[in-house]
Amino acid sequence: MNYKNLLIAVKNGVCIITINRPKKLNALNKETIEELHKAFDGANNDEDTKVIILTGSGEKAFVAGADISEFANFDVEEGAELAAKGQELLFNFVENLETPVIAAVNGFALGGGLELAMACHFRIASDNAKVGLPEVSLGVIPGYGGTQRLPQLIGKGRAMEMIMTAGMIDANQALNYGLVNHVTTQEELLPLCEKIASKIYRNSSVAIKGAIKAINANYNDGVNGFKVEIEEFGNCFRTADFKEGTSAFLEKRKAEFPGN
Ligand code: COA
Repeated sequence: MNYKNLLIAVKNGVCIITINRPKKLNALNKETIEELHKAFDGANNDEDTKVIILTGSGEKAFVAGADISEFANFDVEEGAELAAKGQELLFNFVENLETPVIAAVNGFALGGGLELAMACHFRIASDNAKVGLPEVSLGVIPGYGGTQRLPQLIGKGRAMEMIMTAGMIDANQALNYGLVNHVTTQEELLPLCEKIASKIYRNSSVAIKGAIKAINANYNDGVNGFKVEIEEFGNCFRTADFKEGTSAFLEKRKAEFPGN
């Protein structure tokens, strides 16, 4: 499929989705959000894709936020609708995707850009990255899950400070906060993401799917994560991957997971 605002590359079981609006610092307009939904859905349904990496084009930005020009004249209903639609189509969708998603944060990740990185399963940053939620400097609050996911990832006090000051932190501070897992150079960013993806690739994709569901369960209101874990653990026992993984261990060989 051809996209206006995205580039897609698939190699060795890894799908790299690049947001490609460099002149607008990859800001998320409505069309890009819709295209991202389709691209993530497509990659998730492609049985050869085991890991997805999301990044931004150019050397300056991952994503500099939601496209401010699109919502500057919105009223209350339109504002709420923008947040609800975006959360459903992209941010919650990515968080709950069965295929692991790594954010390769290659520069500014601001507002919706940081919210998108936070919706990914984990994040790796280049040393030029700067991240923040500047929404209150525009007179709004984060609307794509930022008020929920930032405190989950870095703690309430730090999230309060970042959101209230609308400030940016650099890659090392983000690492220190646990907001990103690794920091590397810009040149090494995608190779490092691919190296980590190759480690994920070797493991059982069905088990990983169950693990994502169980981990995310802890963050869903009214859902008991321990119960979901027990259920997902039990489900593993009917999979071909479980038979292969345990047999391979007992036979002292490497597992070749069929992925079902
Ligand atoms: N929405 C729409 N357009 C955006 C954008 C956004 N969130 N972020 C950047 N752009 C556009 C700029 O308007 C500019 O377009 P133009 O060349 O047609 O004027 C282009 O991207 C380049 O940005 P510019 O501001 O000139 O780059 P800079 O290096 O001087 O500054 C930033 C970089 C990231 C600090 C600055 O662009 C910025 O503050 N962006 C908005 C961040 C934000 O508040 N995001 C949260 C939105 S809720």
